[in-house]
Amino acid sequence: MAATVVSDSILRNDADGPVPVNGGLGTDSYYNHSFFQKIAANVAKDMIDEAITKKLDVKSLLSSSSTIRLADLGCAVGPNTFDAMQNIIDIIKQKYQSQFPTSPIPEFQVFFNDQPTNDFNTLFKSLPPKREYFAAGVPGSFYGRLFPDSSLHVVYSSYSLHWLSKVPKGLEDKNSPAWNKGKIHYASAPEEVLRAYATQWANDLNDFLNARAQEIMPGGIIVVITHSIPDGMEYAELANGMMYNCMASILLDIAKRGLISEEQVDAFNLPTYAPPPAEFVSVAENNECFNIVTMGESNPSPWLTDDVHVDMNEFVSHIRAAMEGMFFKHFAREIVNEMFEQLEVKLSEISVEMESAYKDKIQAYYVLQRNYSG
Ligand SMILES: C[S@@+](CC[C@H](N)C(=O)[O-])C[C@H]1O[C@@H](n2cnc3c(N)ncnc32)[C@H](O)[C@@H]1O
Repeated sequence: MAATVVSDSILRNDADGPVPVNGGLGTDSYYNHSFFQKIAANVAKDMIDEAITKKLDVKSLLSSSSTIRLADLGCAVGPNTFDAMQNIIDIIKQKYQSQFPTSPIPEFQVFFNDQPTNDFNTLFKSLPPKREYFAAGVPGSFYGRLFPDSSLHVVYSSYSLHWLSKVPKGLEDKNSPAWNKGKIHYASAPEEVLRAYATQWANDLNDFLNARAQEIMPGGIIVVITHSIPDGMEYAELANGMMYNCMASILLDIAKRGLISEEQVDAFNLPTYAPPPAEFVSVAENNECFNIVTMGESNPSPWLTDDVHVDMNEFVSHIRAAMEGMFFKHFAREIVNEMFEQLEVKLSEISVEMESAYKDKIQAYYVLQRNYSG
């Protein structure tokens, strides 16, 4: 029998996609500034645990193998991925033990996926020494195939699927109705810009689900936690919308001082989109390979009480750790440093509005199950 050639047509190289988070363990690293993403994932934890416990039929998944295989897609460098993977393993173990108290616990394998330029060295060096799983790294875009047919049981992806595979078409073209002049994101942008982002995101999610439909065994589960926006709300009303607008206005001010050109600002757009739940449901339902087992919206903010305020220095550090690479790819280092320094000052001036906007439900979670047929 001829071996399958795993070609570029299924393995995608999204070279124009987002630049990975800051690597290493230093003061500007994602490792040390991913606390917000950790809190965010914890907010949805109980509902997700319950859905996995109810729906995952471990016995039938193990009919063809004695190993449970998990994948974290968009795992970054840690440490959040380690907690997430251990949590899912704990749930599966508990369920298995309660159903089959005398059977030996299955073995687990965890695949850590991210873009090829992610700092996998930091990830592997930080693996928990007492982990209960075999670990492997899988570089590549999760918008294409990453694994063999029917080889996975549980896929998890947190705060990664709001990253598009590329900047949407037309945003940087003067002759396009979606030209995003003077902005770096769709917050406060014309309707055509929003539509270009939404279309790109829907195509990307569809590619993601098509790839996973091949890779996940019937009955297997996908858990998605993602940045979101309540249906019908404008992005500029969210704290992150205020932030993207501040970033654009700082860059335009720097352009007025002649340090960069306005064209440079016009030619920069962040490939990130917060899908309203209705858009997620529409793509997932059209796909037909998965059922939505449970979903919900939540507020991941650590600033829900009046006496806890945004520490703007930490807030900007966490944004830098996740996103500054994208700015460095386009602007000189001094410009990016100045932009983030000014950002902290400007956001501190509007911290009351930011905190109030952070009370919105800007996170959604979804648990999808691979159909047994189709
Ligand atoms: C904000 S981090 C979230 C990391 C981690 N899941 C957490 O919750 O801390 C988003 C990660 O998604 C990765 N990512 C974005 N697009 C991707 C793609 N198409 N394929 C694989 N990874 C991707 C980025 O490189 C980044 O490491």
